[in-house]
Amino acid sequence: MSKILVTGGAGFIGSHTAVELISSGFTPIIVDNFCNSRPSVIQRIETITNQNLVSYNLDCTDEIALRQVFNDHPDLQGAIHFAAFKAVGESVQSPLKYYHNNINSLLVLTRLMNEFNVRNLVFSSSCTVYGQPEILPVTEATEMQEAQSPYGFTKQVCERLLSDLSTGEYNQVSSVLLRYFNPIGAHPSGLIGELPLGVPENLIPYITQTAAGLRDSLTVFGQDYSTSDGTCVRDYIHVVDLAKAHVKALRYLAENDKMCKAFNLGTGTGNTVLEVIQTFEKVSGVKLSYAMGERRPGDVEQIYASADKANRELQWKTELSLEDALTDAWNWQLKLEETGTTAD
Ligand code: UFG
Repeated sequence: MSKILVTGGAGFIGSHTAVELISSGFTPIIVDNFCNSRPSVIQRIETITNQNLVSYNLDCTDEIALRQVFNDHPDLQGAIHFAAFKAVGESVQSPLKYYHNNINSLLVLTRLMNEFNVRNLVFSSSCTVYGQPEILPVTEATEMQEAQSPYGFTKQVCERLLSDLSTGEYNQVSSVLLRYFNPIGAHPSGLIGELPLGVPENLIPYITQTAAGLRDSLTVFGQDYSTSDGTCVRDYIHVVDLAKAHVKALRYLAENDKMCKAFNLGTGTGNTVLEVIQTFEKVSGVKLSYAMGERRPGDVEQIYASADKANRELQWKTELSLEDALTDAWNWQLKLEETGTTAD
């Protein structure tokens, strides 16, 4: 059983990836400081997979603590690095917090990978590295634009760092950069999903919390964009599809020479905010309370992926639809209400 270090393994994408790793025969070793996730997620992954997990409560910027994990597991075959802050708005307010955490954690991790001869790394990146592209769909060859936020810049810096490591003579880290579009949904069991602390910034948790009566009304940010109905377009991808791509990426790294390669992970289809609302109403049977509002500063008008490269080279493609993702997100929200999970 190949052991894989999974930093941020209790988070939204990390927890779903841990499930997929286990069902594909890997053994995840989870590291998380639970700053934006709950320790109970570990037990929930165990319930879904019927397997005991090894996990550590530590911060990846703490080299002494992370070194202990490498010492404990000299047979690690690779790592998936999710641990990072991800709120665009917060990064503008607290840039140092973002630069410190997102960049230092990767520095510490790659230093230890070198030291302990662990070669393969899957890195959590984002379509935010593209800014507003001129041509859609976006391919990996699309030139990056100046980052719009410190968060986006940390992703660009980390990608560059990994590219440099893949060519540096004394470094051995080989990496796949996965550029996520908009991850949504939840595990169909309703046991794990997205649990933002406080008022959600992202569209889907805001929709499900409004439908559940926790928020009064959703504001649609902008209705005068040059899109089919005037609202922004995004490529919403089910988190389970996304999680499966990490397993494919690990296999790809194992089968190939040292590299640093980027892959878009999206469905290839763009949906407007109003289309998402209509689809949610259809699958949930709930009429959503919403109002049109001003544009949100920093939003790009439209972005969706060409995932051809991942289809071709990783042998990966999405299997789940927007309907599936919204059904699972709603199921997750209902389960949270049933069990009062916001408190655990
Ligand atoms: N939106 C609303 N109302 C809300 C929340 C969002 O209308 O209350 C709209 C946004 O304006 C946008 C769409 O819903 O058009 C999606 O917004 P999200 O906040 O869910 O997602 P973003 O596309 O803004 O952000 C996502 C990730 C970021 C990443 C970014 C890259 O959350 O981490 O994509 O484009 F950096």
